[in-house]
Amino acid sequence: MSQPGDRPEINALLTEARVFEPTNDWKTHARVTDPGVYEHAAEDPEGFWEDRARELEWMRPWTQVLDWQPPHAKWFVGGQLNASANCLDRHVRTARRNTAALIWEGEPGDRRTLTYFDLYRQVCQFANVLKGLGIRKGDRVAIYLPLIPELAIAMLACARIGAVHSVVFGGFSAEALRDRINDSQCALLITADGGFRRGQLVPLKQTSDEALQGAPSVRNVIVVKRQAGEPFPVHIKEGRDHWYHRLMQDAALDCAPEPMDSEDMLYILYTSGTTGKPKGIVHTTGGYLVGTYATTRWVFDLQDTDVYWCTADIGWVTGHSYVVYGPLQNGATVVMYEGAPDWPNKDRFWDIVERYGVTVFYTAPTAIRAFMKWGAEWPAGRDLSSLRLLGSVGEPINPEAWMWYHEHIGGARCPVVDTWWQTETGHILIAPLPGITPLKPGSATKPFPGITAEIRTGAGVPVEHGGGLLALTKPWPGMLRGIYGDPERFVKTYFSRWDDGVYFTGDGARRDAQGDYWLLGRVDDVLNVAGHRIGTMEVESALVDHPSVAEAAVVGRAHDIKGQSIAAFVTVKEGIKAGAGLMDELKEHVVRKIGAIARPDQILFAADLPKTRSGKIMRRLLRDIAEGKALGDTTTLADPNVVRRLKDEYEADES
Ligand code: WTA
Repeated sequence: MSQPGDRPEINALLTEARVFEPTNDWKTHARVTDPGVYEHAAEDPEGFWEDRARELEWMRPWTQVLDWQPPHAKWFVGGQLNASANCLDRHVRTARRNTAALIWEGEPGDRRTLTYFDLYRQVCQFANVLKGLGIRKGDRVAIYLPLIPELAIAMLACARIGAVHSVVFGGFSAEALRDRINDSQCALLITADGGFRRGQLVPLKQTSDEALQGAPSVRNVIVVKRQAGEPFPVHIKEGRDHWYHRLMQDAALDCAPEPMDSEDMLYILYTSGTTGKPKGIVHTTGGYLVGTYATTRWVFDLQDTDVYWCTADIGWVTGHSYVVYGPLQNGATVVMYEGAPDWPNKDRFWDIVERYGVTVFYTAPTAIRAFMKWGAEWPAGRDLSSLRLLGSVGEPINPEAWMWYHEHIGGARCPVVDTWWQTETGHILIAPLPGITPLKPGSATKPFPGITAEIRTGAGVPVEHGGGLLALTKPWPGMLRGIYGDPERFVKTYFSRWDDGVYFTGDGARRDAQGDYWLLGRVDDVLNVAGHRIGTMEVESALVDHPSVAEAAVVGRAHDIKGQSIAAFVTVKEGIKAGAGLMDELKEHVVRKIGAIARPDQILFAADLPKTRSGKIMRRLLRDIAEGKALGDTTTLADPNVVRRLKDEYEADES
């Protein structure tokens, strides 16, 4: 494991920190205005979460708030509720029935608005469709769709009948989709003919067909027709494949929500870890709903008049928690946009903000850095005066990007809430509350009320002020309940670094004199490329799967926009010629095995990979090489002596 990297710009800021206090308007009108909430919640975290849980609709009350048998937590034990009922039924009984739940825009410019009642009806109908195809409580359903309303409909319909959804991001390859389907033995796949990305049609049905060769658990496939004309022929396999719109025509309008135990599984979402195999993160119902509901309400200060837009794809956890479950439980009006931020022009996002009057906007630092590069004239050309709050998620936000976001998107009037959390945590854990928390550019500030974090040394010694490993010392409602089918890996990954039942995040962080947290990035072998989590071992496995490759080592390299980019060191087998042709072939091979998000930016051929005597690859050295620190801009390590010399120097350094 590497040491938490330092961020020099943070050190500079810590000595001369710029603080943005909440304005008077925020201090008086925000949803949370009492600074005492932190203290009250700290005194009685269970009571705090219980108060939040009371705002939801339960079919049966809980008898115990928390049952904590480290590392296993149960929240709201004995309670029963349904996620789709909390997102929909609760609202259709009020005036909210006729307000917009989803305002959707496709990349080509097509638009649809669904009121809460529309969404409720369609979810009920689709729930009946699923039942009609034999899906029952506990069955796993894979969803591989573009960012269209049917994606939210499919998730909520699963939740309505107690089926477990497993959403796979539409950018993943056939193999990645197949592995995920097989790992959790999904009985049904929901996909579309295609989706749009940067003017191109992404042929999701074709990819699904490929994935399904070798995924025998899938008995039925439902296909949403996204595209009027069809550049890619859609093959409908009789008996297995069904058009979504045909099934919906005949579906009954009403479907009672299934009472789910608080600890019944809501969904599985795969994410990358430090081995070659992605982990199926398991979330259950009660705690997850309470956590996403409360954090959406408090961190984004959601009010009835808001138009809320989180730009994340629903294929990632941010989309699960902050496009679907969090905002819909709050009865929010949610904007969804299918495509790329620079299609057809670099102001597509600002065009959307202007047109729909978006008030709360939540995106990733990688996007903000891309906007910075494209230039302030793009947002300046649009009316962004509707915005009142900005959010950031997915990777550390550098203070420069924070300031640019604040000034050029937020008109210097919108608080910027930097929100730290993970697929595993389910919801935001470290973030400001905009009415009470002073903001510092580059800091996620304080743990949410009811959350306790700590900075620890590798040996587990708490660090009051300074840097170390970020740990979560008490359970929280939305925490993962396990890794699907792999209970040992769950304990080993998150709860074995220290022996006191404390959760290890995999992140480095620093706490300043005011107790504010500054996230420093991953300390394990997980990369964060343009806000997407990618395991180094996953990419290495994809590379060694190629017949020409003997060995591969993958490291992250600092990148201006993406945060990190992927650099791969490859040794080829005897007699294979390493050159530009093979380099391209290997990049494509990784895309085929995982998806375009994992395409290495750089492949360096080496005659040898530097290893320690025990055979461990010396990643720190490789990182230095990839970043040009050790070797200048050398792109090949064909000379074995170079590596050997470096290796010797490194080992001499270490000893
Ligand atoms: C990183 C995304 C710094 C972190 C919600 C974490 C962040 C990983 C932040 C989880 C932030 C997320 N500041 N780093 N505000 N938010 N991260 O599972 O390294 O896709 O461990 O969840 O992203 O990524 P995941």
